[in-house]
This record gives sequence, C-alpha cells and structure tokens, in this order.
Amino acid sequence: MRKQIAAANWKMNLTLTQAEALTQNLIEAPIQLQPHQEVVLAVPAPYLHRVVQLLQNKQGFHVAAQNCYTKVSGAYTGEISVEMLNSIGVSHVVLGHSERREYFNESNEMLAQKVSIALEHQLTPIFCCGEPLSVREANTQNEWVALQLKESLYHLSPEQITQLVIAYEPIWAIGTGKTASSLQAQEIHAFIRSQIAAQYGDQVAQVIPVLYGGSVKAANAVELFQQSDVDGGLVGGASLQAAEFTAIIQALQ
Ligand code: PGA
Repeated sequence: MRKQIAAANWKMNLTLTQAEALTQNLIEAPIQLQPHQEVVLAVPAPYLHRVVQLLQNKQGFHVAAQNCYTKVSGAYTGEISVEMLNSIGVSHVVLGHSERREYFNESNEMLAQKVSIALEHQLTPIFCCGEPLSVREANTQNEWVALQLKESLYHLSPEQITQLVIAYEPIWAIGTGKTASSLQAQEIHAFIRSQIAAQYGDQVAQVIPVLYGGSVKAANAVELFQQSDVDGGLVGGASLQAAEFTAIIQALQ
C-alpha cells in the first residue's frame, strides 16, 4: 500500500518556544496513524534538533529540513549539509519548494544535485514541483511539471526514485487561500504518476507518494485526500495551528 503523508511546512515562522509548544500539542493530539500513514514536520533549521528530540518516541512522526546544500561539507558559509542532518536524526528534506526556486534561484539542475546528495545520505527528499498562474492560464501546466520532473529526477535509478516523495504545489494556490479543486489536483497528480511510469515503469510509479500543497486546510483536506492519486498534503499556513493540522492528519484516508 502506498504511503500517505501529512507534511507540515512551517517555513520561516515561530520562535523556539512556539515551536516546542506546537510539537507538544501534536504529540498529545488524538491521532491514530495507520501503518502506511506518516506525519512529517518541516521545521526551521535552528529547531531541527529539538523537534527530533521531542518526537523521539512518537511512532510515525518524522522531521524534515526545509533545504540542504549540494555539498557534504566545506567552506559554504550559511549552508546546511546532509551529513549535519544525518547527525541529528533528521530523516526528510524538502527540496525545490517554489519559494526556494523564486527567491533563492534554485534551478532544476541544482535540484537534481540536491536530490542526489540527499538520497546518497539516506534522506527522503520531498521534491516540490508546480506551475505559476501564467502557466496554468495558458493550460501548459503538464508540460511545465513534466520538465521539472525530467530535469531534476530522471538521472535517478529506479531504486533511488522509489525513495522519493513528490509534492505538487501550484504556485497560484500557495498562501493565497485559493486551492486547486480536487479534480484539478487529481488530474495533474495522475499525470505526474503517468510521467514517472513512462520513465520507470508502472510498478515504480505506483509506490511514490504524490502530495498536494497549496492552501490545504481542515475544511478541504478530506475531499483532496479522497482523490486516488493524492496521497496526502504539504501544508503551510494551516500547519502552524495544532488543532487545524491535527484535523488535516485525521483526513488521511
Ligand atoms: P500554504 O503553503 O499551505 O500556506 O498554501 C503550502 C506550501 O507552500 O508548502
């Protein structure tokens, strides 16, 4: 059975005290995960170690970095390496978020390197893709996403790509309150899976979780997660409130 994942993306929010309180509230929330379900918290770098510690005995909960660098170590002031993440027990890393692409000039080519180095160090990449509004309006979102997948992922072996999580996040839906309809999400998720199948075969495509991101909230999570190719969500704003994110976790099918 394919994994289902509720992933929180805290972005650049919260103080340490607030981050600890939010984590503690999630630990205490009435959440019953099935064996194929996971929660991943992508927390700001300064809090990674602390949140890993807090979640140590919490079955099914994992911690993700929001980025990592393309090199293992060295003179790269300000960057975060995969070895550092390994050394503090982080298991996942969000790569290619549209904010990283837009504000920090991350290209498909650079992301190909980041995906590789993460996988070589046993970190699960949550690889983000998705189109801006102009592309959606021109109805060329499939071509846009296909190119992102091709340029950042298709150098991977079948064994490597099955370790990946993909998050489809239409940029026009991020933080705007405007969600893709469940039909729009299903359509492009099925397209993403068909692209992976064309490259790697259906067996590989069937095991890769494809999450939807972009204004997911408790009120729309059930309908989105009901779609057959939507395997959970990557949640920004709504993940900062314990009750709201708990309801989103509970919406996993
Ligand atoms: P949002 O962010 O849920 O606030 O739209 C999603 C994301 O950027 O991952």
